[in-house]
Amino acid sequence: MERIDKIIATALNVSRNDARAFIKKGLVTVNGSVVRDIGTRVDEDSDELFCDGKKIKYSKYVYIMMNKPKGVISASEGRNEKTVIDILPPEMKRKNLFPAGRLDKDTTGFMLITDDGDFAHRILSPKNHIPKTYIAKLDKPFDEKVVRAFADGIDLGRDKCMPASLAALDEDPLCAQVIIKQGMYHQIKRMFSKYGITVKELKRIKMGALELDPLLEEGDARYLTPSELMRIESDRLL
Ligand code: URA
Repeated sequence: MERIDKIIATALNVSRNDARAFIKKGLVTVNGSVVRDIGTRVDEDSDELFCDGKKIKYSKYVYIMMNKPKGVISASEGRNEKTVIDILPPEMKRKNLFPAGRLDKDTTGFMLITDDGDFAHRILSPKNHIPKTYIAKLDKPFDEKVVRAFADGIDLGRDKCMPASLAALDEDPLCAQVIIKQGMYHQIKRMFSKYGITVKELKRIKMGALELDPLLEEGDARYLTPSELMRIESDRLL
């Protein structure tokens, strides 16, 4: 059961005060009856809510897959820079959304956006071993020595990387598939840089067992289905 003013505010992306004003004006119905008590609690799963004739679709948390383009930052607020939240379509925007994990400004691909802090913590915590898969375009080929170093866990000074997987994609040594389970600052770029290799392009293509939807153009976003959400946590690495 959830308070009706909170549900209206979240679903319509308005302030709690605005939601209360709608309720007091008699614009809100629950199962066909007008409700004017702002403290009313409703069952999100079974009660039917309308506000000003519009059906209220409510879910406690949302989970959004975005194909992040270059040039936007993975943060909730960006001062003078555009964020992944800024570029969401207006109907998807609601309070408290944040990107679950960081991608560099010039990295593209799978960005998960949610308002569920516990979920984000679970999939990002290195302890939970959720693999994140990337495609990296490189300026120089890598060899077996680099593959072994990735697998052993590269020492980046203050940061010690956990074992990671590195393989050539389509047998092209300038195009690498990298799987890591941490999310340290510039991690993949720094791992390659240790071996004199520059990452020219980086794209995240998978989180856990869930692949980035190939139909999502860069900048597009869509909600995850419940089974897709489960696929993220269903894959554990090493
Ligand atoms: N590693 C990086 O270097 N950059 C990213 O955006 C993600 C992983």
